[in-house]
Amino acid sequence: MADNKIKFFELNTGAKIPSVGLGTYGAKHGVLQNTVISAIKVGYRHIDCASMYNNEKEVGSALKKVFSEGMVKRQDVWVTSKLWCTDHLPEDVPKALHKTLQDLQLDYVDLYLIHWPVSAKRGAIAVKGESLTQPDIPATWKAMEALYDSGKAKAIGVSNFSAKKLRDLLEVARIPPAVNQVELHPVWQQPKLHEFCKSKGIHLSGYSPLGSQSGENVRKKVLDNPFVKMVAREVGKSPAQVSLRWGLQMGHSVLPKSISEARLKENLDVFSWFIPQELLPNFSHIEQASKQLHFFCFEKLIRGEAFVHETYGAYKTLEELWDGEI
Ligand code: A2P
Repeated sequence: MADNKIKFFELNTGAKIPSVGLGTYGAKHGVLQNTVISAIKVGYRHIDCASMYNNEKEVGSALKKVFSEGMVKRQDVWVTSKLWCTDHLPEDVPKALHKTLQDLQLDYVDLYLIHWPVSAKRGAIAVKGESLTQPDIPATWKAMEALYDSGKAKAIGVSNFSAKKLRDLLEVARIPPAVNQVELHPVWQQPKLHEFCKSKGIHLSGYSPLGSQSGENVRKKVLDNPFVKMVAREVGKSPAQVSLRWGLQMGHSVLPKSISEARLKENLDVFSWFIPQELLPNFSHIEQASKQLHFFCFEKLIRGEAFVHETYGAYKTLEELWDGEI
């Protein structure tokens, strides 16, 4: 490996995205501000946000503090945010970023993503049922490109897109997406999507890299996996660290969440060691979870069931939402 540390990945814009970022989804109010400050203190330089998480103001307060106290400079922290499904209309896209920038107390984001290939009525509280509308990704993307041109989003991309939806977008995009952020961990590896993104120069970023957003069962499947545990023993690290480092060695950035300072540190301690090259192919033998709904299915991956409806929106089935790539 040319660069054993893998601290950054270079995007198709030429920018370098720090390979480990702090996920902020689901953080309890009143806790996140301190978590972000602790994360910056222990060395995180990448914070992954979204307007849908409803906590960007707290991230903004933390960022203001770390910048004003001189702990770190704005240009040394990578901040990602995401356009929510209710803001897909081209005229709403700049307004949504404006609100995010206000909440984050920033002049620009390093990366702005279309959160889902799903749209809903402006102002809808819940993105489901009759609030679902027909997405017009080319029109929304054009508005994203304008944000890139304005410099308010230094890179633009998507999230939860299948290879098919990326291919469709690439056909109409003036500026190709720099990133696709999807669920990725040893129990949901998505090798075909990896291959496709690599061939098109789109960086893959993995949310829920310990599997926990999908529920305790998936996290256990990741962290208690006998092979992951065996590798952990071999390299003298924890299963969580092995899962994260596996992601880096596969070429995707990882966005673990933690409110514990000890685990924040643990999750960032993935640069001074590596998984021996000969062990990497064996990760592909790990049994994968399923996005298909089974009776008694406990392996709940993030599927976006709410975005599927017989009458409303674009997708009648999960297969249509994920283009059968689940
Ligand atoms: P905690 O916040 O108490 O550390 P994911 O990023 O896949 O969504 O996982 C986040 C979850 O995993 C959180 O519940 C977090 O709990 C837990 N977690 C984070 N880091 C570790 C770790 N190194 N080992 C075990 N669990 C972890």
